[in-house]
Amino acid sequence: MGRNPLVMIIDEDPIFRQELQGMLTPARLAVVADCGYGVEAASLAEELKPDLILASIEEPVARAIQTIEAVRGIRPGAPVIAYSSSTELHLVRQAMHAGVRDLLAHPFKVGELLTAIEAVMRSASLPGEAAPQPQAAGTILTVFGAKGGIGKTTITTNIATAIARDTDSSVLVMDLDTRFGDVAIMLDIDPAVTVAEMAGQVATLDRASFKAALVEHESGVFVLPSPKHPNDWRQVQADDIKELARFASRMFDYVILDTPGAFNDVVGAALEVATQVLVVTSVDMASIKDTSFILDVLESEGFPDDRLFLTVNHPNGANTIRAADIERVLRKKVFWEIPHDAQMTMATQIGLPVVLARPKSRAASNLAGLAGKITGRDAPARESKGFLRRLIPAGSRN
Ligand SMILES: Nc1ncnc2c1ncn2[C@@H]1O[C@H](COP(=O)(O)OP(=O)(O)O)[C@@H](O)[C@H]1O
Ligand SMILES: [Mg+2]
Repeated sequence: MGRNPLVMIIDEDPIFRQELQGMLTPARLAVVADCGYGVEAASLAEELKPDLILASIEEPVARAIQTIEAVRGIRPGAPVIAYSSSTELHLVRQAMHAGVRDLLAHPFKVGELLTAIEAVMRSASLPGEAAPQPQAAGTILTVFGAKGGIGKTTITTNIATAIARDTDSSVLVMDLDTRFGDVAIMLDIDPAVTVAEMAGQVATLDRASFKAALVEHESGVFVLPSPKHPNDWRQVQADDIKELARFASRMFDYVILDTPGAFNDVVGAALEVATQVLVVTSVDMASIKDTSFILDVLESEGFPDDRLFLTVNHPNGANTIRAADIERVLRKKVFWEIPHDAQMTMATQIGLPVVLARPKSRAASNLAGLAGKITGRDAPARESKGFLRRLIPAGSRN
């Protein structure tokens, strides 16, 4: 199983960094970090773990070389392609000694860059890691939880909308709620073909007919709704759901799977194919107890813990349980916390994600921050950080 290589750009010129990002987009290379020379580059490399570094070598050359060396120290397996307007021998030698794999003369053409990337990525196989492949599949994000009414569908539709709005990424939501598929209602769209019908044809499905079956929401998010009647799920094979999600992930950068508040074979399939799972819990005792149970079940089944991201939601205003207590009970760090916000309920009622209906609201900026954290593009929303800091005493999250 491969994934798209994550790219980091190091260049003092923010405008060229932007231009370079544009060159990489059609090749489905995700730029996770861009910055100038200096320590920020090293800390970003540590935090965001890029698979490939593109670095300019311009004056001050010593600082450029130092930066490349620092980043190489942190990500030794990630090849560095550098570019420079100078081709002087001493610079080429310095670049070579710093571990640069290829040096392009700046300015260069997109084709030259992509050829260089392909060449270095082909030979860059990190020990213990699968070599990333440029044409690999997108992220499959499963939004999962032990109960209904805890905000799974709200989170699904808002994250999808925020990713479509804030990035160039393509997004598909597949509604796998086998009981009450609410995605179509929450986005106020008219379902045409459903996920059940598509799953039935997955063996013979081609890209064009799949795309034609999808509904495009005004936000740019594509949707594959669930059947209106729960009985229509009866013929659906869990394996076909897995295959359908994987098929979709070869066409969309993000495939987001909404699930019911239950454990069944379709949910099992949604967990198995996921590259990341948001485990949603609300803060009432029953929800925390149920979440504890499903985390135990997943652990005993050998489900990789690093794919599970605990997301605490406050669908109700009144509660006294603190995030620190939740972490203690569930023995798992809280990845994200969503505050209670009446605007969220209001948005649900008018059939719009709150990130569109009330973009300035607390809930909207929080959910956009969550989407940013998932895509690795934005800093987490300031408000959410503060919110967590107030709830969790210092030192208790280690
Ligand atoms: N943080 C929140 N603040 C206010 N209302 C919320 C919040 N999260 C969810 N809700 C509301 O709770 C209700 C149930 O959410 P929903 O997403 O349908 O849950 P699920 O998919 O888990 O069944 C919706 O009306 C939604 O607007
Ligand atoms: Mg739901």
